[in-house]
Amino acid sequence: MTDIKWPDHLFLVGCGNMAGQMLARWLDCGLDPARVIVLRPSGKPVAEGVRVVSDYPAALPAGTTVLLGMKPYQIADVAASLAPLCGEETRIVSILAGTPLNDLRGHFPAARALVRAMPNLPVGIGQGVTALYTDAATPDEARAAITALIAPLGLAEWMADEGQFNEVTALSGCGPAFLFRFIDALARAGEALGLPADQAARMALATVEGSASMAARASDGPGALADRVASPGGMTREGLNVLDADDRLLRLLTDTLTAARDRGEAMARGG
Ligand SMILES: NC(=O)c1ccc[n+]([C@@H]2O[C@H](COP(=O)([O-])OP(=O)(O)OC[C@H]3O[C@@H](n4cnc5c(N)ncnc54)[C@H](OP(=O)(O)O)[C@@H]3O)[C@@H](O)[C@H]2O)c1
Repeated sequence: MTDIKWPDHLFLVGCGNMAGQMLARWLDCGLDPARVIVLRPSGKPVAEGVRVVSDYPAALPAGTTVLLGMKPYQIADVAASLAPLCGEETRIVSILAGTPLNDLRGHFPAARALVRAMPNLPVGIGQGVTALYTDAATPDEARAAITALIAPLGLAEWMADEGQFNEVTALSGCGPAFLFRFIDALARAGEALGLPADQAARMALATVEGSASMAARASDGPGALADRVASPGGMTREGLNVLDADDRLLRLLTDTLTAARDRGEAMARGG
């Protein structure tokens, strides 16, 4: 990844779990730390060569891309200090969950390029998923530049409908936790059948990792792959019959995503 067109300057407002993962990946991919300023109240160091400040600079240089990475409820306070520093050319990417683009436009009226992003944690190893949304006010070249910035983080998906952000968050944002649970359950099921716990844990993790990589490379979808490896009357088919009975697994996951999505909607209403 040597030909990435990095922003001239990157200003991170907040650098905790999520923004910290994004920055770590960008630095791994060759972003010059001298182009980065991180604002965090604790002033805690972030990475070699990255300047950390605990208060806003007097100005942001031309060509700055801002990443909003603090908690969503802090947006009004942050905007009161940050918006006066943002000009027409400032590009703003927000990872604030549940904060619609129109609210962001209200907070940063001068900036034309405003993008809402929903990353997930594996962005730190370049295997994340980031949903993106913007409106017609964002110029095409800014949209392309932000796509290029997000690309080293893994899969980037532009959404046509901002109304689907809670659905996306339920699937890919919360998805890593659901998969961690699945891996753990696969291991514990092996243990229940009598395998040593440590061996079952290693085998479950490696099975999920290998199967996901294989599915990512295959021309068939994972549904077809499952059927292809299950011979009639064999062991795999017998196991699949349990997962497939009454769409048991599909219904379980639909219920799981629905619960997560509904919680996102309740939080957006202040619940
Ligand atoms: N975690 C996820 O999986 C995930 C996924 C998608 C989106 N998000 C979004 O990412 C954002 C951050 O979540 P997180 O889990 O990374 O939270 P976090 O670890 O608590 O990080 C919050 C960051 O904000 C900084 N901060 C606190 N007060 C601030 C202020 N007044 N002005 C500027 N910065 C301030 C903190 O500074 P210190 O470091 O000095 O404490 C910290 O760096 C949220 O908006 C969330 O919706 C998170």
